[in-house]
Formats: sequence, C-alpha cells, structure tokens
Amino acid sequence: MDKIIEFSKHVQFTFGDSVLEIIYLIASILFILGLKKLSHPDSAKRGNIWAAAGMIIAIIGTLLLHRQDGHKIGNLGYIFAAILLGTVLGLIIARRVKMTKMPELVSFFNGMGGAAAALISVMEFPHINKELIAEHGLLNWQALVIFLGLVIGSVSFAGSMIAFGKLDGKIKDIRSKVLRVINIILLLVIIAVIAYIMTRGQVDPQTLEPYVYILLGISLVYGVLFVMPIGGADMPVVISLLNSFTGVAAAMGGFLYNNLVMLTGGILVGSAGTILTVLMCNAMNRSLFNVIIGAFGGGGAAGESEQGSIKEISITDASILLSYSQKVMVVPGYGLAVAQAQHLAHELDKLLEDKGVEVKYAIHPVAGRMPGHMNVLLAEADVPYEKLLESDEANGEMENVDVVVVIGANDVVNPAAEEDPSSPIYGMPIVKVLKAKNIIVMKRGMGKGYAAIENNLFYNDKTRMLFGNAKDSLQKIVTEVKSL
Ligand code: TAP
Repeated sequence: MDKIIEFSKHVQFTFGDSVLEIIYLIASILFILGLKKLSHPDSAKRGNIWAAAGMIIAIIGTLLLHRQDGHKIGNLGYIFAAILLGTVLGLIIARRVKMTKMPELVSFFNGMGGAAAALISVMEFPHINKELIAEHGLLNWQALVIFLGLVIGSVSFAGSMIAFGKLDGKIKDIRSKVLRVINIILLLVIIAVIAYIMTRGQVDPQTLEPYVYILLGISLVYGVLFVMPIGGADMPVVISLLNSFTGVAAAMGGFLYNNLVMLTGGILVGSAGTILTVLMCNAMNRSLFNVIIGAFGGGGAAGESEQGSIKEISITDASILLSYSQKVMVVPGYGLAVAQAQHLAHELDKLLEDKGVEVKYAIHPVAGRMPGHMNVLLAEADVPYEKLLESDEANGEMENVDVVVVIGANDVVNPAAEEDPSSPIYGMPIVKVLKAKNIIVMKRGMGKGYAAIENNLFYNDKTRMLFGNAKDSLQKIVTEVKSL
C-alpha cells in the first residue's frame, strides 16, 4: 500500500512538473509575441495584454504546481493577499496617472523590478546549496548569481528612483569630477566585497550576512550617484539602460531558481532594454561610455541667447498661412503631451488635408519624456502611422515644407545642437526646422525645455511665436481654419 501511495505521489509530482513546464513554455511564447506586438502602435495594447496574460498564468502555475524537494509552496494566503494588494494599488495608480506622468511611473515600476530582484538575492544568500559549498566553498555559481542579482537589482532600483525624481523635476543634476572618482571607487569596493565573501571558503553563509547588507548599501549608493550627474538630453539613454539592468537582475533570479519563465522574461527585458539603449545612443549620436562618464557636449556656458527680437503671429495669420500652404510638417514635443493637444493636432491636420494641404509629422526619437512618447500620443488620436516620419526622413523633406508647426517641442529643434560646440546638447541630432520656409512655434511662453538651455530658434527671422497653451491655440486655429 505504501508503495502505491509513494508511486501515486511520484506520478502526481512528475505530472505537475510537466504541466508547469508547459505553462512556462506558453507564458514564454506569450511574452515573445506580446513584445513583438508592442513594436507597432496598432497592436501595442494587445501586446501588453498578451504579455500580462503570460505573467498571470506563470504566477498562478508556479504557486499551485511548483514543488521544492517535494514540498508545495507555503503561505499561499499571504502570497495571494500580497498579489491582491499589489494589483489593486497598481490599478489605482495606473488609472489615476496623467499621461504626462507616464515616464515617471515607468521609471518607478522599473525600480520596483530591480528592488524585487535585489531582495531575492538578500533572502537566498543564506540558503546557498550546501553541497555546492562543501565542494567549492562560496566560490560557486549560485553565490555569483546572487551577487550579480543583488548589485544590478539595487543599482537599477536606486537609479530608477533618481531618474523618477529627475523626470519629475524634483532632483537636479549634480556634475563634478569628484563624483566621477567616487563612483569608480564605489565600483571597486563592490567588486572587493564580492571577492571577499566568495573567498571565505566552506563557511556557513549566515555568518557572512552582514557583508551582504553592506554590499546592498554600497550598491544603492552607487545607483544614486551613477544617475545623479546624468541629465539633459542623456536621460532617455539612462532610463533604457536601467530597464535592461532590471531584466538582467530578474534573469539572475531565473538562474538561481532554475525557473525558465523567469529566465526568459528577464532575458527579454534585458535584451530589449539593451537594444533600446543602443538605438537611443545612435539616435543621440553618443557612445554609452560618454553618456555614463560625461556630460553631453562641452557642458560650458550653454546656449547664450542671441537676444534678438521675437516675432509673434496671430491666430488668423497662422490659420491663413497654414491653409494656403502645400506642405506642412508638425513637430510635436513634450508640450503637446502636457497640453493633451494630440486630438486637436489631428483635427487640424484633417481640415488642412481637406483643403489639399499635405500634412506630416516629424518624430524625434527623444521628443517627450519616454521612448515612443509622441508615437503613443498620436496613435491615441488616430493619426495614421504612415504620416509619422523619423527625424532623418523629415529632415530630407524639410526644404519643400512651407510651414513647420512646432507644438510644445524645444530641445529637439534647438539649432545649438548643430551650431554651438559649447552647448550641452551639441552633437545631438535635431529636427532641422530651419530648412523649412516658415516656422510657427506654439508654446506658453519663453520657458526652457528639459535640457534647460536657451533656444535661438525662437529669435530666428523665419520663426513666428504663437504663445499660449497648445490645446487652446490649436482649438482657435481649428475654428479659424473652418471659417476660411
Ligand atoms: P522639451 O525640450 O522638454 O520642451 C517642451 C516645451 O514645451 C517647453 O519648452 C515648454 O515651453 C512647452 N510646453 C510645456 N507645456 C506646454 C503647453 N501646455 N502648451 C504648449 N507648450 C508647452 O521637449 P522636447 O522638445 O520634446 O524634448 C524632449 C527633452 O526631454 C529632450 O531634452 C530629451 O532628451 C528629454 N528626455 C526625453 C526622454 C525620452 S525617452 N523621450 C526621457 C527623458 C528626458 P513653455 O513653458 O514656454 O510652454
């Protein structure tokens, strides 16, 4: 009888294990397909749902079917209560967050992923496999994976929190050579502490736990100081870099638990983040090394304004100019997101098209505050994707453009990036609006952009300023164009 019970337990166990493997496979496929769908605005929403569905079945499958040395996962009540609490909080935050605060939220969530990965390492260090310790001491793969997860996860957490504060405008850049030296020292100390712990031989890991907390502390400080000096136009690169860190840290958890779906998820996030980082660097004409160790461009007394005069344009004149053009190029920026003026921009575009005017949009890779920010906004307003041109393509057409309408964009059209070697954004590719015949700039006043530098475009002879909230200005132009 005992043997039969034993046998049935074994069958149950291997059956549950196989079902879990299949669930992990389905979840991994859903992650990959979801990620693929995220690459196009039309399918992005579905992609998100697919990937979330993958995560839900992976979590439920793990909780119900995972066995460790024949034991089920315990404390299910607490775990489900925590999941419920997280879900409710996540739902409330996601529903309440304004579109303009989305980048901050993304940064915050990314940081939470890093924190979770770091906590896994802290919790698992005392439980490193005893056989591994007996054979290799602490110089074994589990310890290495734990330390990598700990350091990368906590750097990602602390860095993302600073990025969150910077995007929110609450934390200012601090740049100094001393900081760079401190960062290098901290990195060396981190390596030294890991080396110290790993060379302690066949000891009980619990005796070394204080060192793990020291490592956690130093890594958190390093995360803060690593992001602190990076600012202005370099933030997009750092945000995607931190995103890839979180993926790598989660993948370490996958190695540790020999959990395939965690590994796949971590690798997907890590590699997607790395690819995005490389693309961002290319788009900004910067090497990653430069982003991490130095300020953009010369960092000198940037963007001294020519202090020329500013010419304004009235709603009526702007409407007439647009209506009688052949080709109009809209350059949206962060201000479009703030004003939530995307629907009106599209309405104006349709009105002009009805009058025979060709309207396109020039999308700069870092316009707004997160990768693809403008694409998301314009897709939300149903602007056909074919109308969106990448900056290079738009620049190629710019000479034939009668009117460029800059809506709430500033840094991405700042000619200092091409003309002023002392400017912090020198070298960053821009939308070359000066090549067009006329330029209308819609913004509320003479406020600076994210990089906090002057923009001489506003003083250029071709430029006419249309001051006011972009939504109000567009609404007035739409009404005027309708009456023409
Ligand atoms: P910004 O240079 O930030 O300029 C936005 C402009 O919009 C401001 O000068 C502001 O001028 C105007 N504005 C704000 N609210 C407005 C409203 N309601 N109506 C009309 N105008 C309004 O934007 P950008 O050109 O899109 O450049 C993006 C910057 O953010 C770059 O420096 C980029 O590196 C950085 N950044 C980007 C990302 C990503 S991934 N995209 C992430 C982090 C940082 P007024 O105050 O005078 O109105």
